Amino acid sequence: MARGALLDGANGSRVIHMLGALLLAGCSGEQSALAPAGRAASRIADLFWGMTVGAAIIWFAVTGLAVYATYFRRKAPGSTRGGLLIIGGGVVFPVVVLGGLLTYSLSMLTDILAPAPEGALKIQVTGYQWWWRVRYLRDQGEPVDLANEIHLPVGQPVEFQLESPDVIHSFWIPALGGKVDMIPGRRTRLLLEPTKTGVYRGVCAEYCGASHALMGFFVIVEERVEFEQWLADQAKPAPSPKGQRATQGGELFVANGCGACHAVRGTAAHGVIGPELTHMGSRLSVGAGVLATESDALRRWIARTNDIKPSVHMPTFGMLPPEDVLALAVYLEGLK
Ligand code: CUA
Repeated sequence: MARGALLDGANGSRVIHMLGALLLAGCSGEQSALAPAGRAASRIADLFWGMTVGAAIIWFAVTGLAVYATYFRRKAPGSTRGGLLIIGGGVVFPVVVLGGLLTYSLSMLTDILAPAPEGALKIQVTGYQWWWRVRYLRDQGEPVDLANEIHLPVGQPVEFQLESPDVIHSFWIPALGGKVDMIPGRRTRLLLEPTKTGVYRGVCAEYCGASHALMGFFVIVEERVEFEQWLADQAKPAPSPKGQRATQGGELFVANGCGACHAVRGTAAHGVIGPELTHMGSRLSVGAGVLATESDALRRWIARTNDIKPSVHMPTFGMLPPEDVLALAVYLEGLK
């Protein structure tokens, strides 16, 4: 089809519908800053809509004036009126509008970056190429380690303590709030407060290498009771494999040296280089937001890791017989 034909008749309306759908898709869904589900995100969305409407009004006013001056009143104004127009429209108006916006956005910043209130949940998140280490700090008991998924209780402030040992990443859950960089050698902070239960998606928002676009995670915001139960479950050691295939998978996990990089608490696997896997079967995704957690996807992940996530540090285990890969996948899926 010739390019010009794209906008003809039925095709044209289809393209317009597609563009409309794309634009609207940006305003909803699990990864949208314009569908806020957190206190900071609501303020950011309000600022966005305020600026969008304000900018549209100013654009129409300026364009209207330009059209008026071009077509309807071609006579030059007197020097006094011209001077007033330039000083009023070119100096006073932008200073007032931009000054107001700056003051408002700076006031938001102090609110968003305020120290964590008493009783805030504290979670350390460390960004790696290309996954997330997550550690829940608890008032009582040992910290709880996991990876690539975060659960939060609705209505409770949470302080994220952000770090990176390799390159700069940026921690961003658009539906809950703004983004903050994870900078090697420093600890940065982000205060969020989810206001709506649901499943949201977070991303790395700073280019960090080949698989930057494949560095995501899911955030599950739930009622406090469910959250407490979830955290208590995550603190437990891994369940014993159920069934012959899963048991064989567990043995293969040890025999193939997976435990050198991954930890599965309650087993001989104590690795700290890669993501913690104790309850990985309970997580929504494999490979940091890349694939859904089910044994077929796990099989592909184990056998074709580098195809799915280019330059990933995990070696590809495609040399294993398919039945071994299947057993490993069944074992991992069973780690609920
Ligand atoms: Cu990490 Cu981009």
